[in-house]
Amino acid sequence: MAKISIIQGPNLNLLGTREPHIYGHFTLHGIHEQLKNVFGSAHQLEFFQSNHEGALVDAIHRVQDQDGLIINAAAYTHGSYAIRDAIAAVGKPAIEVHVTNVFAREAFRHESVIAPVCIGQITGFGGYGYELAMLALLEHLA
Ligand code: DQA
Repeated sequence: MAKISIIQGPNLNLLGTREPHIYGHFTLHGIHEQLKNVFGSAHQLEFFQSNHEGALVDAIHRVQDQDGLIINAAAYTHGSYAIRDAIAAVGKPAIEVHVTNVFAREAFRHESVIAPVCIGQITGFGGYGYELAMLALLEHLA
């Protein structure tokens, strides 16, 4: 059994109503329920969402007692050195997820300051990206 944190950054609590032509109609709750359905009986999953950078840093620190993390840092992806440093500091395998294809969007979304401290990045597959990230992380841990 792996202990995995799924950490969600700012504005992702609004998935479902937030710019649905870009982000789709699925909700964060729906994504988390799906992860519980698929992986919850075999693995211990912890879910955390915050709109605050420091709260996200604290959540990353808690992964010290776990096996790894999946993170959609949302807009903090493109500029938060604090989140990048927190991932590096805990030293656990991390996978970066984006529900949209950030490379098909505005230029400022093409840079990720957290990608260098993650084992990989999954972008553009909507809510399903989290399942792909779980599979990749479990494979990495095996
Ligand atoms: C996002 C992409 C980011 O550029 C954006 O700021 C978000 C969501 C995504 O999942 O597609 O809030 O991380």
